[in-house]
Amino acid sequence: MASNNPGWLVLVGILVTLSLPYSHAFWGNENKIHTAVFLSPKFVLGPGSVENRFYFNVDFPKGHIALKSFDAEVIDEAGNPVPLHETYLHHWVVVRYYVRKGVEISKLDDLKKVNRSDYISGGNSGICQNGILSQFFGLGSETRKTSTHIPDPYGIEVGNPAEVPSGFEEQWMLNVHAIDTRGAEDKLGCTECRCDLYNVTVDEYGRPLRPYYKGGLLCCYDRTQCKVKHGFEAVRRTLYLRYTVKWIDMDRFVLPVKIYIFDITDSWKRTPSSTEINAEHKCKIEYDIESCDATGLGNDGCIDTKRISLDMLFGGYLIYGVAHQHSGGTGSALYRECLFDFGEFEDGQLMCSSLPTYGKGEEPGNEAGYIVGMTTCYPKPGTVEISEGETLILEFNYSRIRHHTGVMGLFYVLVADDLPKPMHTLRTVVQTQDSIMVVTVLWAAVALIGVVAVIALAVHYQFKREGEDGYEAIRM
Ligand SMILES: *[C@@H]1O[C@H](CO)[C@@H](O)[C@H](O)[C@H]1NC(C)=O
Ligand SMILES: *[C@@H]1O[C@H](CO)[C@@H](O)[C@H](O)[C@H]1NC(C)=O
Ligand SMILES: *[C@@H]1O[C@H](CO)[C@@H](O)[C@H](O)[C@H]1NC(C)=O
Repeated sequence: MASNNPGWLVLVGILVTLSLPYSHAFWGNENKIHTAVFLSPKFVLGPGSVENRFYFNVDFPKGHIALKSFDAEVIDEAGNPVPLHETYLHHWVVVRYYVRKGVEISKLDDLKKVNRSDYISGGNSGICQNGILSQFFGLGSETRKTSTHIPDPYGIEVGNPAEVPSGFEEQWMLNVHAIDTRGAEDKLGCTECRCDLYNVTVDEYGRPLRPYYKGGLLCCYDRTQCKVKHGFEAVRRTLYLRYTVKWIDMDRFVLPVKIYIFDITDSWKRTPSSTEINAEHKCKIEYDIESCDATGLGNDGCIDTKRISLDMLFGGYLIYGVAHQHSGGTGSALYRECLFDFGEFEDGQLMCSSLPTYGKGEEPGNEAGYIVGMTTCYPKPGTVEISEGETLILEFNYSRIRHHTGVMGLFYVLVADDLPKPMHTLRTVVQTQDSIMVVTVLWAAVALIGVVAVIALAVHYQFKREGEDGYEAIRM
């Protein structure tokens, strides 16, 4: 039927034309996704023990590429996922740096000895003080169920030869902080690094802790030991962080995103004189939550709400957002400060929120009482824009039903300078970040055109035949 029918050629023509401009930017890239699964160096944990290691020059995809996702989990030697109630993954972070070719850094001690001129940090775009929270990726217990996927056509550009200082090599550091809570007297207390449970009164470097410091990273450093139930025994076991990286080769269709991390403990304050670049940020990373028993049930519903204002020294389109919280967390959000509003918070406009999911069972990825995932936000590209100079409000909520030490409130955002070209025209039809969706919509359009064409042709031939049969043909 189609072979001697010119109508089908036209249809094929439409089909090819329709898919050409978009096939590369959306669907082509999807086809080119590379995946690699790596293992961290092994670490060995016994009941109550802590490892906080910094592994330099870890396995990582090479070349001029755009990262699309980074997922991780703790596994044992047999490759089985280990649940959080056995090994609590306090955090892992991945940081880029540049090192002079020929200089080897494999552990933190090496870094301390290296000539400062041989090492250049290659951290994210901000916004904490130098060297603090400079990671590209990093999560904790929520790792298994938190999406890190960056929608097309965006990606985190790395390995750009033009950006690697000459004579240097781009490398990656992985920090893994894990706590073995098998047999622990107080599992939550160990995961919250309560100093009394670790019997710690001095920090890693032997400096006495301030008397009011009750818990946090200063008490659960590498090789510390949390209190285990009397007589409890279990084997020391070998573990790994298994991480899966997805990427695509960099090309002109990939739009780079920048990584910014906001910290709720940032004590940055706008001062009349310093509304400009390099205004002092001071991110303290951790804070404590008082229980409402101690302060009495106020009208806050036993929720601790912390809010800070941050002036944005950059602009761009928000592509992705995710928060990091510890157990007790009940949600976080980023708001735009309302311009016509003097001090009242009520009118802040929600830009992005990220809420915790708690596990309900025993198995890895669903451990009861632990945050096993954070929701993410993927605004339709172009719909949420951060303007340079505007003020955003960061908010973190924690339950105050019990006291917590060493909780965190980090908010990662990925921001793009540009919108994809085809999306400018397609935006109203396919307002989505998911390329599969785009392809589906395109094919649906193609199918629709096909159906219309077939009907048109059928009607045309029907009329033609009717005309040949002696009836009056109606002109179309
Ligand atoms: C560090 O490197 C610089 C430049 O290569 C050199 O001038 C300096 O002497 C080195 N410092 C040390 C302590 O080796
Ligand atoms: C706690 O630490 C102190 C001093 O470091 C030590 O004398 C004491 O035995 C420790 N207690 C326990 C229960 O390990
Ligand atoms: C945080 O808690 C306050 C009330 O204490 C509530 O108004 C707000 O919506 C909460 N925010 C999030 C992101 O859960």
